[in-house]
Amino acid sequence: MVDNTINYALETTALGKKIQLKNNQSLSILHDITLQIPQGSSVAITGASGSGKTTLLGLLAGLDTASTGDVKLLGQSMVDLDEDQRAALRLGQVGFVFQSFHLMNNLSALENILLPLELEQSVSDPHKAALEALEQVGLSNRATHLPTQLSGGEQQRVALARAFVNKPKVLFADEPTGNLDQATSTDIEQLLFKLQKDNNSTLVLVTHDDALADQCQIHYRIVDGQLVTEA
Ligand SMILES: Nc1ncnc2c1ncn2[C@@H]1O[C@H](COP(=O)(O)OP(=O)(O)OP(=O)(O)O)[C@@H](O)[C@H]1O
Ligand SMILES: [Mg+2]
Repeated sequence: MVDNTINYALETTALGKKIQLKNNQSLSILHDITLQIPQGSSVAITGASGSGKTTLLGLLAGLDTASTGDVKLLGQSMVDLDEDQRAALRLGQVGFVFQSFHLMNNLSALENILLPLELEQSVSDPHKAALEALEQVGLSNRATHLPTQLSGGEQQRVALARAFVNKPKVLFADEPTGNLDQATSTDIEQLLFKLQKDNNSTLVLVTHDDALADQCQIHYRIVDGQLVTEA
């Protein structure tokens, strides 16, 4: 058997997304996207509003299905998998961070972080793991607080702790600092890169901030539905 020397967290081949509109018309959002993202690397995706960044993230994570081409996530081709199989592939291996935090408002900070551990059931002491994750984001003293009792930056810290508590192989972040002021954004960005390194995760980061994108090892821009590599 051939030994693949490079492990790719993500590979796409001629990936495309078209949406059928009414009147037999269709909208081509992305086309002919071929990329390879090595395990452990950091990748930024930039592009104008509406250029297809979130759509591409959804395809890479297997939340959405391609119209053409294929995506391999952690070596597994997703073209033949149904929704449940794609969810099983993500479980414990893939984390997400969003612009609007997406915390459960009726659960405390600690309980939010416990959620993915309860789903996966692979950690022997979930409570201890969740407390450690909270400590890593500097919020040990806010364990019992509800999201509404936390600032935006603190909520995103909890979301980061929740995303990394499973030590995901791939972390997808869609504009994670889009709702935060400049100083808080810088804190969260530094924390994101630190957690990525500590967990040896692959980071796929959607951002409109070119300076942030340039801190990643690879910077792709979406232009007219295709990927352009920035220098
Ligand atoms: N289900 C859908 N039906 C019709 N159009 C869609 C659908 N999903 C996405 N689009 C369109 O596809 C394009 C890309 O959307 P997408 O959300 O990926 O852009 P984006 O780059 O993430 O934008 P933003 O920076 O504003 O978040 C947009 O023009 C959007 O309106
Ligand atoms: Mg978007």
